[in-house]
Amino acid sequence: MNFKEILDARTEEVFHAVEKYLPPVEGHQATVLSAMDYSVRAGGKRLRPMLMEETYRLFGGEGKEIEPFMAAIEMIHTSSLIHDDLPCMDNDTLRRGLPTVWVKFGYDMAVLAGDGLLMYSMETAAKALSMTDRPDLIARCMGILAEKTGIYGMIGGQTADVELSGKPVSREQLDFIYRLKTGALVEASMVIGAILGRADEKEINLVEKMASAIGLAFQIQDDILDVTSNEGVLGKPVLSDEKNHKTTYVTLEGMNKAKQDVERISEEAVSCLHELSGKNQFLEDLIRMLVNREK
Ligand code: IPE
Ligand code: IPE
Ligand code: MG
Ligand code: MG
Ligand code: MG
Repeated sequence: MNFKEILDARTEEVFHAVEKYLPPVEGHQATVLSAMDYSVRAGGKRLRPMLMEETYRLFGGEGKEIEPFMAAIEMIHTSSLIHDDLPCMDNDTLRRGLPTVWVKFGYDMAVLAGDGLLMYSMETAAKALSMTDRPDLIARCMGILAEKTGIYGMIGGQTADVELSGKPVSREQLDFIYRLKTGALVEASMVIGAILGRADEKEINLVEKMASAIGLAFQIQDDILDVTSNEGVLGKPVLSDEKNHKTTYVTLEGMNKAKQDVERISEEAVSCLHELSGKNQFLEDLIRMLVNREK
């Protein structure tokens, strides 16, 4: 199998692990549950749970305790997309190739579906407590998940991102935004994979550094694709950043430097990977693929 075939198969597998934890669409909350279900099932690269599981495997992890966390991180990520698309944020109408949640279910249900997924992610992660002989590690990972999602993580980054829309942004502010809005969830994914895989503290620090580089390169590439791709391939609108008068890595540094930096920062991540004792060729290929991805 070539890399593309392996990646497609892994994406399927990861989705099935996530899917098992989705709440049934029933009862008096059926509308919000169906909005949650719709947004998670809509598709997507499943990158964060994939990076989490691959990091777990890198350290020899083989158990099922990783699965509730894989589901949780994809729920959190999806909730961030639902809210990111709202008219009061990026005001976008297409996501993962389908109408955004607010377009399909209304603003009220979109707010609640995002909140619902966010809290259900913690409820889901807690299920790992009954699947392990190391509840202390599960508790540590739940703390990391909350911290990297919250005001010192993704939500903090999104706050600065929307607040600075239409205003001049310095490179230092842009780095802060990217490190938080996108980097933090990638860090949570890989650090949790490392902790549950029984990595030691030195290895965990190196994994966090690697994840931070991957997150930064990933967001720069996202900015590039917002300019160079098309809606059919991307599954979301192009030129969304321009519409919202956002300063991006591309507007600040230019397209050429943006492309070079994605490559350079991704290679930094690969170097971190090489410093670790385990080997995971798929993970290395995955990091390199993100540089050339088209969606
Ligand atoms: C989009 O993330 C939001 C960013 C942080 C750039 P992805 O590009 O991973 O979105 P999906 O999950 O594949 O839809
Ligand atoms: C979004 O950044 C980051 C999060 C959702 C946390 P963008 O606003 O660039 O993401 P897209 O391009 O809408 O996916
Ligand atoms: Mg946004
Ligand atoms: Mg957006
Ligand atoms: Mg974008």
